[in-house]
Amino acid sequence: MSDMTFPKAIDALKHPPTSPQDSAQRLIAPSDAPQFAALGRQPFAFRHALHSNPLFTLEAIRALAGRLPDHTEFKAWQNGRIKVEDGWATREDAWLPFDETLANIAETNSVVVLKHVEQDEVFGPVLQQLLGEVFAGAPEAFREDVVLGECLVFVNSPGRLSPYHFDLEPSFLLQISGEKTVHALPGGDRTIVCQREMENYCGGGDFSAGIYKPELQQMEKVMTLNSGDGAYFPSTGPHWVQNGDTVSISVNVNFDIRSMHHRLRHVHGFNHRMRRWGLAPAEPGTTPMMDDLKARIWANAMRIKRLIRNRMNGPRPSDHYPVWSPPR
Ligand SMILES: [Fe+2]
Repeated sequence: MSDMTFPKAIDALKHPPTSPQDSAQRLIAPSDAPQFAALGRQPFAFRHALHSNPLFTLEAIRALAGRLPDHTEFKAWQNGRIKVEDGWATREDAWLPFDETLANIAETNSVVVLKHVEQDEVFGPVLQQLLGEVFAGAPEAFREDVVLGECLVFVNSPGRLSPYHFDLEPSFLLQISGEKTVHALPGGDRTIVCQREMENYCGGGDFSAGIYKPELQQMEKVMTLNSGDGAYFPSTGPHWVQNGDTVSISVNVNFDIRSMHHRLRHVHGFNHRMRRWGLAPAEPGTTPMMDDLKARIWANAMRIKRLIRNRMNGPRPSDHYPVWSPPR
């Protein structure tokens, strides 16, 4: 990846922008605008200036963790050696407490994920600028599809491997410090992520539903990310990540999109239940009207389930947490 710098953009980090039109103040390299304007199902690499922001130190991230609610919706972590085909729940070694994991990240072969960081009083302003910039640079169809956006901070131990998985959210990984090699596959391809995997994710709540397929290795786009490098992962495009030999800090920008989170996800959820009842549901796309009906039924079923859960256990912290939604 190129080692280009863009000092004007870096300088702009110290002086908040007055106009989003001013290319000198952008966090995403202006030269990558055409890639963002055409983003779709193929992963790609890009350059950014976020790594020059002095905020992103381990010390500041530990303070950030202290400000976030103590709940898995805000803090996630995994310890121990894992393989590319393992899931997020794999735990071959002893599970360390969150604070101990983050404090000893250089030695614990772990990953720490801090969520909803765009709402933080310290990190929020620059991350909301980033969200706005990525959103504004995306094609119109994408912008119309976006419901909300979120920023996460990842801290990885030296040598840490993040297993093969896919996400429903299209996402952008921005490397701040350290090195990562990411392996990314295209999104929206049923020969890469099959119906059963989607159903297990959307209906079964299995975030490790993606099954690693070594035969797809030649299709992977392999990108080595150092400070200032970024990678785009399309919605449902599987990826896995090998960290380099130092602690890595990166920021992830992701978006909930209407076509996936409010429709296709519900169709797959409905189909998952049908299959558990011994039926053979039609794949999404077979009959759009039937998909609409399935999506509506499943969305309502999930709403009722959430109401019952909240009545029994009280609301979750994220139920009343602010979110970033795009300017309309
Ligand atoms: Fe991911």
